Formats: sequence, C-alpha cells, structure tokens
Amino acid sequence: MTREINTILVLGVGGAMGNGIAHVAASVGYNVHGFDLAQNFVDKGISSIKSNLERGLKRGSITEDEISEIMGRIKGFTDLKEATENVDFVIEAVFENIEIKIDLYQKLNDMLPNDVIIASNTSTISISLLGGGSNRGDRFIGMHFFNPPPVMKLVEIITGLQTSQEVLEITLGVAHKMGKETIVAKDSPGFIVNRVLVPMLNEAVFLLQEGIGSAEDIDKGVQLGLNHPMGPLRLLDLVGLDTALNVSDSFYTQFQDSKYRVPQLLRQMVAAKMLGRKSGQGFYKY
Ligand code: 3HC
Repeated sequence: MTREINTILVLGVGGAMGNGIAHVAASVGYNVHGFDLAQNFVDKGISSIKSNLERGLKRGSITEDEISEIMGRIKGFTDLKEATENVDFVIEAVFENIEIKIDLYQKLNDMLPNDVIIASNTSTISISLLGGGSNRGDRFIGMHFFNPPPVMKLVEIITGLQTSQEVLEITLGVAHKMGKETIVAKDSPGFIVNRVLVPMLNEAVFLLQEGIGSAEDIDKGVQLGLNHPMGPLRLLDLVGLDTALNVSDSFYTQFQDSKYRVPQLLRQMVAAKMLGRKSGQGFYKY
C-alpha cells in the first residue's frame, strides 16, 4: 500500500469521541471529513471542536488564526457517498452496536478504494468480528482513543485475526502523527486498558451501592490515595454511564466470569437516564 494519507473520514463526528478524534486529526494537519446521520449531529460535533479549541485562547496556547486554519480543514457531511470522496483513511466512532457498525462497513465497501484502511474506535467489540463483517479484514484494525481525545496521550491499537502487518504499521504512523503514544493489543474483550479500568469503575459503584462510603469520599480516596486525575465515579460521569454499562455488559457476556458482574446501581441509573455529564446528572449534578 503506497497511499499517502492526507484526508481522514471520521464516522460519528457528532459524538464525544468522534469530534475529539476529528479535532486531533485536523490539529496535526489532516483534512477531515466528519460524517454523521443528521445535520444537527454534524453541527454539534463541529461546534464542540471549535469550543474545545477555544479553551486554549485564554492561556495563549493557540491563536485565532490557528483555530481558523484547523477549522478550515474540517468539512461536515450527512451523505456517506460524498463523505468518502478522496478519503485515504477511515476512523469509525459510531454507536457501540455490532449490526450498526457492520451495516456501515458494508456500505463503505462499495464506496472506498480497496487500499483504504478502516479503523474502529470500539472499546469492546471484537476487531476480528468487525473485520470479518467489513469484508476487508486484512485492512481493518482497532484504534481506541481515550476521552477526551485531544487531551489523552494514548491510542490503543488492536489487531484482529486478519489485520496485516502493513496495516498495523500504517495505523501506528497515523497515531504517531496525531502526537499520540501507542500500545498494541491482540483482539480480546476490553483489550488492555479497559480490562483494567472496567473492574475498577464497577468496584467504585459497588462501594457506593453497599453504602461503604459517599461518592465524594470514594472519588477523593482514589484521586488522592492513588494519584488519579479524577475519581472513578466522576470518570464514569465523563465517560457516560450508558457507555460504561454497555462495556461492562459486553465483558460479562464475553468472559462469562462473575468477576465482571455489573452493579445493579449502574443499571438502575442508566434506566433512570442518569447518564452523567451529558444528561446533567450522574453520580454528581452538572
Ligand atoms: N477537549 C479539549 N481539551 C480539553 C477537554 C476536551 N474535551 N477537556 C479538557 N481539556 C483540556 C483543557 O483545556 C486543559 O488544557 P491546558 O492544559 O492546555 O490548560 C486541560 O485539558 C486540563 O483541563 P482542565 O484544567 O479543564 O481540567 P483537569 O485538569 O481536571 O483535566 C481531564 C480534565 C483531562 C478530563 C482530567 O481530569 C483527566 O485526565 N481525567 C481522566 C480522564 C480519563 O481517565 N479518561 C479515560 C476514560 S476511559 C476511556 O475513554 C475508554 C473508553 O473506552 C471507556
């Protein structure tokens, strides 16, 4: 594969991960096509990128001209065919649902040249499974960013059974150009980072559910006792309780091990639409 990567298509630009990935890609000089299903999702994603870039204005870490330049590299699309024109690399960050993702890859297959790689930002779904569904398993890979993508230094790269060595190297190159550190994991539920994170987050919810400590004290304990930048319950509010529940359920289904059982409180809060920051209420009020 000799394709030079100039333009990246980000699928799901309206979501927190999608707009963060588009932000990072455009900031390092890639042209970005941001796709989402409806114009209001696209507009929301693009305006979040602008307001996140503007955080740096007061501190002088970025200028108005630099923001205009970065924003000038981002185009929004709701038509998939138009969004794929002149695209050299695809990063998919849509809802964590196997059928939705595979349906999208099937549509893309007819639109993209053969040598374009599809990287999924999935946090739990098997890369071999998604690669198989994409009909381009050798050119399919996991590229797992962390929330918020403009700030978090890591990208976890996951190879599926069919992912070629060349595709791994090209994807590592894209992540490094984005200024990220990388780790490489084999396809397994939760890969490396979420395998450590998810049981820890769930344990914090069990502590609250069992009345062992207040939300504030559980967070303070982990933040100051372990030197984490934020406590686990506040982090769950940032990630989104629905996303966390989805990931936890998928762990339990895939490992069939009771150590991954999901706390009832997490399930109830999601049912009650207490989803964290995005709904204004999670373990804390926003
Ligand atoms: N976009 C762009 N920049 C952002 C941002 C965003 N969404 N959020 C924060 N920032 C920037 C700020 O502008 C600031 O920049 P500066 O250093 O140039 O001044 C810097 O980040 C620090 O932000 P704040 O001062 O507002 O706040 P904090 O210092 O408290 O940092 C935090 C906020 C970066 C979120 C920090 O608390 C943190 O690192 N928390 C842990 C996050 C984490 O663990 N993420 C992983 C989640 S797991 C995951 O994503 C995997 C998934 O599969 C579940």
